[in-house]
Amino acid sequence: MAKKVTRREFVQTTTAAGMALGVATPSLGQAPAIRTGGVRPIVIASNNGHTVKNGGPKTCVETAFELMTKGTDVLEALVAGVNVVELDPADSGVGYGGLPNAEGVVQLDSCCMHGPRKRAGGVACLEGIRTPSKVAHAVMEQTDHHLLVGKDAQRFAAGLGFTVEGDLNTERSRGLWLEWKRRIDPEHYLDPRKRGDAAMGAGLAMVRDGLIDADHFWGTINCDGVNARGEVCGVTTTSGLAWKIPGRVGDSPILGAGLYVDNEVGAAGSTGRGEANLYGLCSFLIVELMRQGRSPKDAGMEALRRVQKNTIEKRLLNARGLPAFGLNFYVVNAKGEHAGVSMYASQFAVCTENGAEIMKTEPLLPGRAND
Ligand code: GLY
Repeated sequence: MAKKVTRREFVQTTTAAGMALGVATPSLGQAPAIRTGGVRPIVIASNNGHTVKNGGPKTCVETAFELMTKGTDVLEALVAGVNVVELDPADSGVGYGGLPNAEGVVQLDSCCMHGPRKRAGGVACLEGIRTPSKVAHAVMEQTDHHLLVGKDAQRFAAGLGFTVEGDLNTERSRGLWLEWKRRIDPEHYLDPRKRGDAAMGAGLAMVRDGLIDADHFWGTINCDGVNARGEVCGVTTTSGLAWKIPGRVGDSPILGAGLYVDNEVGAAGSTGRGEANLYGLCSFLIVELMRQGRSPKDAGMEALRRVQKNTIEKRLLNARGLPAFGLNFYVVNAKGEHAGVSMYASQFAVCTENGAEIMKTEPLLPGRAND
């Protein structure tokens, strides 16, 4: 059973500069969470699902839970929830104000899956649109396809009336990008191999220096919900790895990696180092393990063990010989049983009829990624 995070721990570990901190207290007592068929409605998300409000009254999980339990389609409710985070300039890992790529351009990825309707949609390398989850949803609703990318994804969205902006940077995200440029290589990248090491090293040093929230280096929000009828949906949206090579796509928009939903079984989604997850298609793996009878927690832990086993390159290991990165999975089965699991100690957000709260994930490994 996941442990609640005390207010003190919550404030200590949620460090995004300038972010208005939410407090993990119930605030949805009035939501009509009607139970039918024995399923207790629930929305789970990464930590930023209950730390960010974009100046409004509700977080992502509160927004999604309220809409879902009032009868809105589960996926539409979840997309409305993650829109809160995408639109908030204080969350530098998602949507508007997300940390840009190596050329200073914000490129966004997202996907969504609708369990009951067995439909999915996604976008990758999308520029200029603050809410990539809405475009992913439009790909699902309006096309026969599952993934549109780059300029053509943008053209698709523009054709549907989405506003396209020239630049999704905020003053803060651009300032951090300039700081990264200043740090990596004043001699203009003479050695491509050293440049790669320097780029990752400079980024991680900025995390250690407290300039970037560790959760925002790989960014992302994943949000999954089950309503009282047992209908399961999910959505994942991100600005991806900070300072990535332009065109890099991580796990978030890839079905089976950043998200997987099977209405008969449940949903799993991820945040953290996308490459580690992509290699094992862990969200698909977790749902398949649940299909075989594993609990959300056991299935998630097995996926993490597999990632650890596949992490053999020295550059990806810390001084203890363990993975030098964070990776989290948010897992819910069709009965509403849920878990947040992670490579190292972390947090996730849960909203039920009792309100929203931040919980501790179950970590696979002790200490921190950089220890
Ligand atoms: N998990 C987000 C990314 O790696 O892009």
